[in-house]
Parts: sequence; structure tokens; C-alpha cells
Amino acid sequence: MDQRTLISVPDINQKTKTFTVKGQEIEKQYHYMEQIRSRNDEFYAQNLRKRTYEVRNFGCQMNEHDAEKLRGMLNEMGYIPAEDGNTADLVVFNTCCVRENAEEKVFGHLGAMKKYKRMNNDMIIAVCGCMTEQEHVVKEIKQKYKNVDLVFGTHNLHRFPELLYKCIIDNTHVYEISRTEGEVAEGMPVLRESNIKSWVTIMYGCNNFCSYCIVPYVRGRERSRDSKDILEEILKLEKEGVKEVTLLGQNVNSYGLDRNDGMNFAGLLKLICQNTGIPRIRFMTSHPKDLSDELIEVMAEYKSICNQLHLPVQSGSTKILKDMNRKYTKEKYIELEKVREKIPDIAISTDIIVGFPGETEEDFNETMSLVRSVRFDMAYTFIYSKRTGTPAAKHPDQIPEETVKDRFDRLLELQNSISREINETFKGKTVEVLVEGTSRTSEERYTGRTEGNKIVNFTSDKDLTGKLVNVNIDCVQTWSLYGNAVSG
Ligand code: 5AD
Ligand code: SF4
Repeated sequence: MDQRTLISVPDINQKTKTFTVKGQEIEKQYHYMEQIRSRNDEFYAQNLRKRTYEVRNFGCQMNEHDAEKLRGMLNEMGYIPAEDGNTADLVVFNTCCVRENAEEKVFGHLGAMKKYKRMNNDMIIAVCGCMTEQEHVVKEIKQKYKNVDLVFGTHNLHRFPELLYKCIIDNTHVYEISRTEGEVAEGMPVLRESNIKSWVTIMYGCNNFCSYCIVPYVRGRERSRDSKDILEEILKLEKEGVKEVTLLGQNVNSYGLDRNDGMNFAGLLKLICQNTGIPRIRFMTSHPKDLSDELIEVMAEYKSICNQLHLPVQSGSTKILKDMNRKYTKEKYIELEKVREKIPDIAISTDIIVGFPGETEEDFNETMSLVRSVRFDMAYTFIYSKRTGTPAAKHPDQIPEETVKDRFDRLLELQNSISREINETFKGKTVEVLVEGTSRTSEERYTGRTEGNKIVNFTSDKDLTGKLVNVNIDCVQTWSLYGNAVSG
């Protein structure tokens, strides 16, 4: 039985050199994809049905994009999407561990799959993503979830075909959580969910070690992709008709710092704007400590960079920010509003954690006052979740649940009223919308987003999917705007 389980505690000060995995290693994975494809073709010839898959995804945009990579590999291997995931031939759980409830959900699903696996012994269950980079999780899966056949991590996602092949041929469990630092794989297939908007990863990992966050432990140190590879991918997307690209990274402002090739994030944006015709470029996530004047200048200079900035503040209390290891003060964050002087109509969104250990009522009120003063277009609010292995988990002053819940509700109410007030200012205005298709709630309405990332639902007598159109806004809600397409 192959049980290469290599998990080690990361060294915070470790410096890694990024290297690109291309050529032979990738060719090897294509070889395994081909092997599995011919087995699946044989299966089709005998059973007159194709083998099916489901990728069940949990977590952030980075994971959603990883799911597109998994689907790309599965497609290449001859699998087709299942109509019902519980009866698929192969189910892949792409997991998240940022907060405890995400982990509990995955274990709930794995438990529920036991029944389906008993009904179909040939079913293969795989678990990957952030959760599996934690030793205790792999141990629990090995002990309690024998229905899981394959476990792999975030660093070896590109090795999925080889690991799956091993699992099928040896008819055994395979657990491989490698911690090869510094690798960036290029050239693997991707099956994108949309041909209008696409994600492009520009860097992996995080070096910040915010005291509450598990991400640096499970995603490893920062590794930036070569700017030539990024540009090549975007040019290919442009050729395919993609209208919007979101550059992804845990901390995009540090792009390039690990490469020493003279390219930083502002430079990368310039390179993309000067060499492609993609009408909309977004990026996330930015860390306030690294938001440079150079970046703001580039954003102001190029029209194709959306006037939108996701800038997580996490707390409005300087004391809590220090305990969170965020490396900026409340005042420094508020100063960043200078971006509004350069880009007046910029939409700013944020992440806020409520109930971080040691948060007093005063600290929380500082968060409330920061929210009132900055007036975010949108805030993603989270209840602090204790993550084993992070410094904050050892903090003696964990906040009682009822106190946190009460603060969370107050913050949500405040932010909702601000979002609503900001949306009210759009009434009677015309906004440009990238149309994504018909609305989820009504076939007669179309939906899309503004440059500031606001959802717009609107009527139109023509199908304008994939187009940039002007919409007159006549009605607003907290989360979305409503209107009619301007004809002509
Ligand atoms: N508890 C609650 N929220 C967290 N986040 C990260 N770690 C935790 C945690 N332990 C939030 C942060 C981050 C977002 C992606 O998730 O706000 O910006
Ligand atoms: Fe986590 Fe902080 Fe890195 Fe964001 S910047 S991924 S919150 S450690």
C-alpha cells in the first residue's frame, strides 16, 4: 500500500526559490491521463455509458479555480460530469479549512458517502485541498473514512492523474501529501466554468502568518508564476473570447518578490494591459500593508483595470490588528482611502473577523467606527474560528459565543445599511454591465456585474450574454441593482 504521507511543520523564516514544473513531469501526467482514458474508453465499449465524476468544491475562489483544474484533468481522462454526484464513478472533494464549519461540512459529506460507496463498490472517492495538508485530518480520514481511496494535497494537485492511476491499478488507498516547496506547475488542462469570466492564478501560498489563519500552513510559502506564462494564458483566454480576468493570489501585492526577475505586481498589471485587449481585469486579494502608490497609479492609468479593490481590514482596533500580526494600524488603513482621490468611483470591499481572542467591546466599537468612516461597498464578515496550530488558538481570552454573535449581528446590520445607501446612489444612473446570462430567479431577466462588482439584474429584448452593455438602474436592494438595458 502506498502511504507516502509527508507532512512537516513549516518554518516561518524559510526562504524558498520558486521553480516551474514543466516538461517531463507534466508529460508524465499526460501519459497517466492517456492510460486512464483508454481504460475509460474500454469501459464505454463494454457498458455503453461513460464513467462519470463530480468535483464537490468547498471554500474560496482559489479552490474554485483548482476545481476547474481538477475538471480539466478528469475531462482529459475521459470522464464526464455526473447528473447525480452520489452515484458518480469518481467523487473528488476539494476541501477548505479556513474556518471550522467548512471542515465539519466535509466530514459530514464523507460520512454520508459511505452509504453510496456500499451501493457501488467501484466508486472512487478522493479528497484534496487545504484540509488534507493537516496531519490530524489525514489521520482521521485513514482511521474513520476507509471509504476514501485517494488523498492528496494542494502542492501536488498536478499529480492527480498519476495518483489516481496508482489507486486504480493497485486497487489500494493512496495518501500523498507532499510538501515540495517552491513548485509551480504549468501546462496542465483546465476546464473553465465560464467562457466570459476567468480566473488566472498569479501566485500560490502566503508568507504573512496572520495569527488566526491556517492558510500559510496548508498552502505553503509564496510562489509566483513566471509573468510570461501568465501573459500567455491570458492571451489564450482573450482568443477564446473571455471578457474578464481575475488575477488570483492570497496576497497579490507581493507578486514577484520570490522571483527576483524585476517584475512586481504593478509591473505585471501593466504588462497585461499593454499586451492584451481583455476589457476587464480584476485582482484579489490585496494586503493593506503592501498596497503601493505604484499600484494605485497603474490602476488609475489603465481603463481595463476595474475600479474595484478588495482590501481586507479584519479589525478596526490597532491593538487587535497587532495581535492578528497584520502589520498596519487603524489609522494607516484609513489613510489608504487616498486611493479614492486618485480613483474617485472605486468600489472598496473588505473582510472583517468578529470575536478574535481578546476583542473587547471597545475594540469592536472601533471596528464599527472604521466601517462607518470608510463606508465599504461590501464586507464579508466572519465569526472568528479557532484553528489548531495557529498562534491565536493558544490565546487564553477566547470570546464567549453569545457575545460574538451579538457583535456579528450588529456589524452585519450596519454594513447592510451602508451597502443599501451606496446602492441607492445608483438609482437613475446608467452603469456598464458585463452580461453573464439569464438570472437565477427569472429566465426573463439577465444578470451581470458592474466594474465595481455589483450584481445587476435587468430586462432586455435581446440576449446580450457575453457583451458589455449599458443598463439604466431604476430600483436597488442591499445586494443588487435592477434596471433595463439601454437599447441601440
Ligand atoms: N476565523 C475566521 N475568519 C478567518 N479568515 C481567515 N482565517 C479565519 C479564521 N480563523 C477570514 C479572513 C480572510 C478570509 C479569507 O477569511 O477574514 O480575509
Ligand atoms: Fe491568511 Fe493573512 Fe495570508 Fe490572508 S494574508 S491568507 S489572512 S495569513
